[in-house]
Order: sequence, then structure tokens, then C-alpha cells
Amino acid sequence: MLLESQRPPVGAEGHDRDAETCLASEMIAQDLPTGTVTFLFTDIEGSTRLLHELGDRYGDLLAEHHLLLRRAFSRHRGVEVSTEGDAFFVVFPSVPDAVNAASEAQRQLFRHAASGRSSVAVRMGLHTGDAELFGDNYGGLDVHRAARISSAAHGGQVLLSVVTAQHAMRSPKVSEGIRVKELGRFRLKDLDESEQLFQLCIDGLPSDFPPPSALGGTVQLPPRLDQFVERKKEIAELRSLLARHRLVTLTGPGGTGKTRLATEVAAIASGDFPHGVFFVPLESITEPDLVPSTIAGTLSLREAGMRTVLETVKDYLAHKAILLLLDNFEQVVSSAPVVSEMLLAATELRVIVTSRAPLNITGEQEYPVPPLSMPDPTEPATRPRCADMRRSNSLWSERERSLQTSTSPRRMLPW
Ligand SMILES: Nc1ncnc2c1ncn2[C@@H]1O[C@H](COP(=O)(O)OP(=O)(O)OP(=O)(O)O)[C@@H](O)[C@H]1O
Ligand SMILES: [Mg+2]
Repeated sequence: MLLESQRPPVGAEGHDRDAETCLASEMIAQDLPTGTVTFLFTDIEGSTRLLHELGDRYGDLLAEHHLLLRRAFSRHRGVEVSTEGDAFFVVFPSVPDAVNAASEAQRQLFRHAASGRSSVAVRMGLHTGDAELFGDNYGGLDVHRAARISSAAHGGQVLLSVVTAQHAMRSPKVSEGIRVKELGRFRLKDLDESEQLFQLCIDGLPSDFPPPSALGGTVQLPPRLDQFVERKKEIAELRSLLARHRLVTLTGPGGTGKTRLATEVAAIASGDFPHGVFFVPLESITEPDLVPSTIAGTLSLREAGMRTVLETVKDYLAHKAILLLLDNFEQVVSSAPVVSEMLLAATELRVIVTSRAPLNITGEQEYPVPPLSMPDPTEPATRPRCADMRRSNSLWSERERSLQTSTSPRRMLPW
């Protein structure tokens, strides 16, 4: 995808813009980039505390911070949209520009602090999307998302949305010494779905931070490592089933895409589960008795006194709006009563199961997962989706392989 914006960011005026001249104005943006752009939000961690501690000297600190950041942003074609106190909103015409600018800004701040001068920890968030202009400012969901991502970052950390991360990982224009690390999915304020967040690891700078400051429930799902071939119809059907039934079992032969589809649905539905969404991998469990302890382990529960593990799990789940995704249940189907017991004990619990065979318990809603459809290359509407078609093809081969090799240690099932 072409990420360069349609017209050059006139406000940036080349790479050597004198940062000091920017210092005077707090609102610069006149001619803002349009098209697909990358939004950057920054702010100083603990600025109110710093203001109290430093008093009048806070103004000098802020001026130094502005100077360092503006130099880095303008060198990489950043256009400053607005600045309020210690917070910047800057727009870049491409992902590598934004990534290089944020990294350079963090490096400058780090060097500045290391040289014994004032030190501030600045959080940054990047997201790439459509530039919707409202007068002399941007608006729309993408701007909102970028701001929320920035708020989730810790001082010194640069967080990226999945779109920005994917482009950064592919772009040869991202400078040496910058890597992108996946952090997982997190629920951010005012955003319906959980966000997959990534972090920049910048050589020479700290890269270990606590989990992002996210809202409410944990969303513990496997990372998405490659593109998801859209399954809009299945996702809509499953969301509707999940709204009406507390136990939904996705069935189908090995390799049909049950786990991928269930994970996608769980991520989309995560906003409905303030106490969290948890993925319980049962692929390597062949002993049904181990199901309760595997669930307890996923929920980070410890055994308590004389209570059985299942009782501890049920106590924990009671009165919590949690979604459990029990993956690869086919080897432990005889422990299906465990699922019934949990559902009875915890009235707000919902469970998605992936299994080659249904659990056959009361309340179960089975959803046979159809194989990914093969797009018709003669249909004009489907022609641009050849990448999907290649993916579908390889999924078919994967499924064939899976069927040939799925004898051990799994039980043989009638597919
Ligand atoms: N919609 C999709 N888009 C992209 N890749 C997919 C999609 N669905 C499945 N895959 C890929 O196909 C492979 C098999 O999918 P998945 O593991 O979900 O199958 P499964 O039905 O859960 O298989 P099993 O019964 O062996 O657990 C995986 O590599 C997965 O990433
Ligand atoms: Mg699976």
C-alpha cells in the first residue's frame, strides 16, 4: 500500500527547519497532509508532579523538551498540528518518517538526560489512518485511536497500532537499530474492540516496560502472526450466537481455521467482557483430569487450601463477565462436564470452544466452521483478492497435511 500522503507537508518546510523558530508558536499547522498519514501523539509522563516539584524551572524544562522534539520531528517531515502544554500532535506523510522521528526524539531525550541535564520521560503513540480534515485540525476515529494508544504508553516508550507496526516491519526506510515488538491485545478507553499493540525497541534505550496502561479486563489471546483472511459472514454469525448462547463450539476438521476464527471473534467481542478474555490452549493436554488446572493456570489462580482446583476456578469465575476460549477440546471431550459446572457456577461466563467434535452438553450451540471459500478469479469483484486466494489455497493444503498427520497424540475422530 502506498503510504505517502498526496501532497507534501508544506508546514515542515524541508528537513533543516530551524527548530528554535518553531518554539514561538504553539499552533503551527496551516497546510496539513491529506490521504493516508501517520499520527503521533506525545506527552510527558508525570508532568503535574514535575510542575509541583520544579515550580518556575518547569518552564525551562518544557522549552528544552519542545526544542528536542521539534528538531526530531521536522527532520523527518513531521507537521505539527497542535501543541498543548507538554503534549504534541504531529502528522507524518509516511510510516518510516514517523517511526524514525519518534525514535530520534526518544534518543535525544535519553542523551539529554544522560548528560546530566534535565530529564523527562515522554510517552508516544503512533497510528496510521485516513486524514479527515475539519478546518485546521484533524478529526475522526484514527486520530482518536492514535491518542488512546499514546495514553497507554509509559514514559520513554513508543507504542504502535497494528497498521503502523506492519508497515514499519516491512519498510526498508526504517533506520537501523529500530525493531518492532508485539505486546499483545489491550482494551483502550472508548474503543470498542481490543487493540493489538506493538512497541518500538530502539538500540541503546530501555525497552522493558510494564504492560500498557489499558482498561479493565486482560485480553489474553495468541498474537496474530500473519494476515487474517476476512470471514465477515462467519464472524457476524458467531457474534450473534455468542450473544444468545453461553457455550458456542466451533467444530470442523483439523486446519479448517477454527482457532483463528475463534480468536478473531473473541478479540472483537472483548469489549463485552470487562473481566477479561482468556485463551486456554489444550492442544498438548491429553489427560482430561488436567483441564481444570490448565484453566486455573491461564487465569493465574493458585490452589487454595482443601478446595479442588475446579472449585477454585468456579469461585473465581462467579459474578465475572469473562470469556474463555478453550482451544482444541477434542482430546479431552470426556471432561465436558467441567465446562457445564463452570457455566452453572458463573452466570456471566461465556465459553467458546474449538474442537473437532462437539461436547454434547446442555446449552451447547455448535457451529461447524466452513472451509475458507475459494474466490472465483473470473468474478471482477473478487479479482483483487488474489492474495486471499493464494492464502485459501495454502490453507487447503495445510488442511490436507493436517488430516494426514493428525493421528497422534490426538484421538482419531470421524473426519
Ligand atoms: N481466516 C484465516 N486467515 C488466515 N490464516 C488462517 C485463517 N484461518 C486459518 N488460518 C491459518 O490456517 C492454519 C490452520 O488454522 P487453525 O489452526 O485455526 O485451524 P484449526 O481448525 O484450529 O485446526 P486444528 O483442528 O488442528 O486445531 C493456521 O496456520 C492459521 O493461521
Ligand atoms: Mg485449532
